[in-house]
Amino acid sequence: MTDMTTPVSSEDVIDVLRGVMDPELGDNIVDLGMVRGAEIVGGRVDITIALTTAGCPLRATIKSDVECRVEVLPGVEKVKLIWDELNAAEKTRVMERARSHARDRALPTKVPPMTRVLAIASGKGGVGKSSVTANLAMQLARKGFTVGVMDADIWGFSIPRMLGVDGRLEAVASDNGDGRGEIIPEEVSKEPGLLKIVSTGLMVDTEETALMWRGLMLAKAVEQFLHDVKWGEMDYLLIDMPPGTGDVQMALSRLLPQAEMIVVTTPALSAQKVAVRVADMARRSHMPILGVIENMSAFVAPDGSRHALLGEGGGERLAADLGIPLLGSVPLEPAVSAGGDEGDPVVTRDDSVAGAEFRAITDRLVEKIAPPRNMTGCSAHMLNAVEAALDGVEL
Ligand SMILES: Nc1ncnc2c1ncn2[C@@H]1O[C@H](COP(=O)(O)OP(=O)(O)O)[C@@H](O)[C@H]1O
Ligand SMILES: [Mg+2]
Repeated sequence: MTDMTTPVSSEDVIDVLRGVMDPELGDNIVDLGMVRGAEIVGGRVDITIALTTAGCPLRATIKSDVECRVEVLPGVEKVKLIWDELNAAEKTRVMERARSHARDRALPTKVPPMTRVLAIASGKGGVGKSSVTANLAMQLARKGFTVGVMDADIWGFSIPRMLGVDGRLEAVASDNGDGRGEIIPEEVSKEPGLLKIVSTGLMVDTEETALMWRGLMLAKAVEQFLHDVKWGEMDYLLIDMPPGTGDVQMALSRLLPQAEMIVVTTPALSAQKVAVRVADMARRSHMPILGVIENMSAFVAPDGSRHALLGEGGGERLAADLGIPLLGSVPLEPAVSAGGDEGDPVVTRDDSVAGAEFRAITDRLVEKIAPPRNMTGCSAHMLNAVEAALDGVEL
C-alpha cells in the first residue's frame, strides 16, 4: 500500500490494474496477461496493454478504467497508454484462462464479472444515499437494464420501502452441493428492465430477528450477500453503503475489485468534510471514485425562486478537490421523500425537477461515466468459443 510520501511503483500500478476487467473474458487484464508493463517516468505512467485485436471496440472502456484507477495514485500526473496486440500463443493462453474461469465462475462471489458495480457512499447518514440508490436503480431499469440493488445498510435499511417491495427473500439449497443455502433476490419487473433487490429488510420479520442481525458484523453480512446470493446476470449492481465505515469498503474492494464508488454529499461544508474522508478511504482501498452527486441542493419554489436551505457549493467543491466530475445536483423537494415513502421513486415523475436531475445523472452514467459492459465487442467470439467448448462439460 502506498501513502503520499512514497512515490508510486510499477508494482502499485499493476496492483490497481487488477481491478480492470476485460468485460468479455470475465477476468482482470493483469491475470489475463494483457498488461505488458508499467513504467514510471517522473509523474507519468506509461502502461502497455495488449488486446485480442488491435481495433478492439473495448479499448475505450479499458482505457477509461485504467486511467480512472491509475490517475488517483500518489504523484501520478499523467497516464499514457500504449496499445499492442496479443500474439497467437498469448491468445491461446488467454482462451485457456477464460475457459477455466468460466468453470469456476461460481466462486468467490456470485456477482458476474461483467456487472458494473457502483457503491453509493457518503460520510454520514441522512444525506440521501438510499434515495440516490433507489432512484438511479429505478431509472436504469426503466432504460432496460437488469439492476441488482444490494442494501448494505444492514441496520438502517430503507431500500425495500423506497422501491416499494415487502416480500421475503427465499432461500434454496445451493446447487454446488456444499450444503450452504442460496438467497434468491427479490425480483421486481420495471419494464423494460428488472430490479433484483437484497436487503435485511426483506429477511427480518420481527424486532427480535432484527436484533439478531445486529450481532452480525457489518462487513461479514456484506460478504454473505456477495457469496450467498444467487444474483444471476446483471448489467449493474448498485450498493447502498452504510454510513462512513471503512471495514465494509475494504471488504467490498477485496471481494469485488471491479467496484467503483459514487460519493453523495449535501451542499453544506460540514457534510463535504465527511465525504472527503470517505473518498480518502476509497483511495486507500484502491476503489476508484467516479463522481460526486450533490443532494438536497437549493429548493426551487413554484415561483422559480431558489432557496439554498443547506448552503451551496459543497458538491462542486468536493468534486474539484477530488479531481472528479460532479454528476449532478438534486434539489430539495418534498416529492423526493414522498416518493421514497410511497415506494415510487421521484425519477418516474415528469413534473419533478429532482426527478429530471436523477434522469440526467443516469444518462451521464450510462453514456459516459459507467457504461454497461456489454458483450458486443471484439473478443465476444472468443467467449462464444469458450462456451461452445464447455458444452457438455460438467460444471
Ligand atoms: N432531495 C431531497 N429532497 C427532499 N428530501 C430528501 C431528498 N433526498 C433525501 N431526502 C429525504 O431525506 C431523508 C434521508 O435520505 P436517505 O436517502 O434515507 O439518506 P441516507 O441513506 O444517506 O441516510 C429521507 O427521509 C429522504 O426521503
Ligand atoms: Mg440509507
